[in-house]
Amino acid sequence: MAGRIPSTFIDELLARTDIVDVIDARVPLIKKGREFQACCPFHHEKTPSFTVSQVKQFYHCFGCGAHGTAIGFLMEYENMPFPEAVEDLAAKAGTEVPRDEDENDKPRENLAPLFSLMEQVSDWYKQQLKSHPQKESAIAYLKQRGLSGEIAARYGLGFAPEGWSHLHEAIGEDNNTTQQLTRTGMLIEKENGGHYDRFRNRIIFPIHDTRGRVIGFGGRVLGDDKPKYLNSPESPLFHKGQELYGLYQARKNNRNLTQALVVEGYMDVVALAQFGIRYSVATLGTATTPDHLNQLFRSISRIVFCFDGDRAGRDAAVKAMDTAIPLLRDGREVLFMFLPDGEDPDSLVRTEGTQQFEQRISEAIPLSQFFFAQLEQQADIHSLDGRAKLVSLARPKLSRLPAGMFREMMFKQLSNLVDLEEETISGHLLEPDIPKPATRTKQASSNQRGQSPSPVRTALSALLHNPHLIEQITELEPLKQIDGPGIPLLIEVIETLQQHPNLTPAALLERWRGRESEGVLHKVAQWNPPIPEEGIEHEFQGAIKQLLALSRDQLTESLYSRPLNELSAEERTKLQQLLSAQ
Ligand code: UTP
Ligand code: MN
Repeated sequence: MAGRIPSTFIDELLARTDIVDVIDARVPLIKKGREFQACCPFHHEKTPSFTVSQVKQFYHCFGCGAHGTAIGFLMEYENMPFPEAVEDLAAKAGTEVPRDEDENDKPRENLAPLFSLMEQVSDWYKQQLKSHPQKESAIAYLKQRGLSGEIAARYGLGFAPEGWSHLHEAIGEDNNTTQQLTRTGMLIEKENGGHYDRFRNRIIFPIHDTRGRVIGFGGRVLGDDKPKYLNSPESPLFHKGQELYGLYQARKNNRNLTQALVVEGYMDVVALAQFGIRYSVATLGTATTPDHLNQLFRSISRIVFCFDGDRAGRDAAVKAMDTAIPLLRDGREVLFMFLPDGEDPDSLVRTEGTQQFEQRISEAIPLSQFFFAQLEQQADIHSLDGRAKLVSLARPKLSRLPAGMFREMMFKQLSNLVDLEEETISGHLLEPDIPKPATRTKQASSNQRGQSPSPVRTALSALLHNPHLIEQITELEPLKQIDGPGIPLLIEVIETLQQHPNLTPAALLERWRGRESEGVLHKVAQWNPPIPEEGIEHEFQGAIKQLLALSRDQLTESLYSRPLNELSAEERTKLQQLLSAQ
């Protein structure tokens, strides 16, 4: 595996790249004033609202909210994964992408021999299902599960016979083969140094990567032994958190898949395929990860999750929803379907048949609906307190949605649900809502009613658009003391800029890629900062002053609220100073 790309390289790369060239080569741009424009490539429109700023090195669409840097553009437009987008820009800039060394970062290994070994192993398991003396038990099991020979062949099912070393003996017992079989998890090393086959007396499901190479296996017992399923361990080829069982076959069957159904088990995928539902995939005994979803969203825009109807299924759905939220750009869709108690897709499709099962898929609940239904179970929207609770539960989740129409609609729906102005709900994601000492209460509450953004937000926005303002920050310690939303992020941005004062706004945003606060930062970096360019320095100074005052107030409050005799001499002096300064 290649190491991480150092962020200083990303900074340099973005400094050497002009986003206008990158985009213009794909979407011809027209110069309008200081900026460049085109019809947005990410949504359908007749008049251009897609804007590219050469100064800031961002693009932004006023129509759909698409927004990002040159790297982000390539990722969205060309469907490139992050490292590939970086490689592409580096190639144009004529530089090599360096990689951080880390301890598990060995020189790039040629994995081809391991892939071909796995192919050999897979062929051997298939062969056993055809010719091993004990094949009857395996065939009887598959028949009893209702699997056709055709489907078993399509998914390459095999059989690992009973015994400790059949595979080892068949593939090769020389040192090199033994070592490779162990690395891929096919053999387990004994304490005394010997080896034994991992999969014994099991039905074998080969797991393929999207290119169709075998990277691991799942094995199911024929009877009731435990564990029911055994999976290949993580290996140089196999990363559970990234692979989906059945995706290769689904895409092979149809290159233009419109939707994917995410189920839990190997058997579910195979049974559904046998019944003509050839677009299901399974995670491999793990919860759905962002990597899984990114993998699917690369070629498919609609993902339907299938869960049990019980409590565990609901909980799993909530988790999947949380994972999906940051990835829900416009045009992507996530839905949920819940099965009747005690059923899984395998059992249900066999009893109900294809048509009824597909009917269920088509009736899946959109994420938006599930999201609010879920919240309404936790808060009573008929009471004032309940509505406030609902907003406070919903807001942090919705703020993780990427900018766009879907996000706007979700905020709108929240505001309708609780009957509050949208501004009040969405405009103050970063409003510190900590109790303020008496002196400033008035000012703070008028602030909260929504005429002007919070000082944290103003400061962040100003810094994002004008990183040179960093020079004006002289006192960082008191800012760090503030207890309130948005403060840790602001501090991090400040410290980053202090260390790297020449970052462009785009490079700054890139440093937050993939992090939880990325969404907030993008929201703040939205085009058209609320402040006109001329006034920005003044606004920024004002915001910092306000924050310093807040810090002092909080300190006063916390010292004042403690019994005097518990304060150290130093603390007393400080309190005295603070009180006399008011
Ligand atoms: P389930 O226990 O729901 O089994 O596990 P299933 O898919 O219905 O299997 P059958 O129908 O009894 O054959 C769902 C998935 O969880 C993982 C496997 O990926 C399985 O397909 N799992 C389950 C394991 O990894 N290990 C286990 O012991 C059990
Ligand atoms: Mn099952």
